[in-house]
Amino acid sequence: MSNHATRDEIRARFDRDVERFSKLETGQTTTIDAAYVLDLIAECAQATVPGATRLVDLGCGAGNFSLKLAQGLPLESITLVDLSRPMLDRASERLAEATPATVTALQVDLLDLKLPPASADIVVAAAVLHHLREDADWLNVFRAIWESLAPGGVFFIWDLIDHDWPGIRQVMANRYSQYLEGLGGPEFRDKVNTYVAYEDTPRSVPFQMQTLTNAGFSAVEVLHKHISFAALAARK
Ligand SMILES: C[S@@+](CC[C@H](N)C(=O)[O-])C[C@H]1O[C@@H](n2cnc3c(N)ncnc32)[C@H](O)[C@@H]1O
Repeated sequence: MSNHATRDEIRARFDRDVERFSKLETGQTTTIDAAYVLDLIAECAQATVPGATRLVDLGCGAGNFSLKLAQGLPLESITLVDLSRPMLDRASERLAEATPATVTALQVDLLDLKLPPASADIVVAAAVLHHLREDADWLNVFRAIWESLAPGGVFFIWDLIDHDWPGIRQVMANRYSQYLEGLGGPEFRDKVNTYVAYEDTPRSVPFQMQTLTNAGFSAVEVLHKHISFAALAARK
């Protein structure tokens, strides 16, 4: 997988892209059903961990998921994790205006993150895990998240996904291209497909569910799937 973007290249691109990730009403529109899933995950978080006070937002970007979750939960602390300093700064500013929770911003690679055991009630990773490359990276990150959650805590994933069957992968790729073309025309479609091919190494829903189970999660649910995007929940 060495022909894919390096961490430094990914960070540099996101450093320049803060505005696109700062729209709470729409979410990031290249992800299908973005606004719907922001709402869905917030509602599922309220339903599964209603007393949650400690949130960790991995690959937080400009903070859309933390902002949404803070609207319905009694959060006291929010830990933001991202490679990009401009993203962390924007997320911190937006959260300071919207919530009394203590916000801690960590500029660190997901792969190197060490959180204290049982220190989170909810962990969310939205549109970031597709930057993991190797099977072992996925397992190590899922294990670290499991460790960081308190018993009964929930990990929410929303992401670009792959499909393991080649024919189905092609159908979904075609449909995602149609979606992108509808959003911004053929040039936009090609631009997004080009950076996705270079930067992203998504994994299928079955791979992620199996790896979550291998990492120790006791229950895993699919919350949503539409073409090349899926949302999952995993309970410690
Ligand atoms: C597509 S954006 C998603 C932002 C936000 N979660 C959202 O849904 O609006 C991905 C974010 O993950 C960050 N990121 C990418 N790879 C990362 C890594 N290995 N460790 C930490 N953050 C990473 C990027 O800097 C970027 O801000």
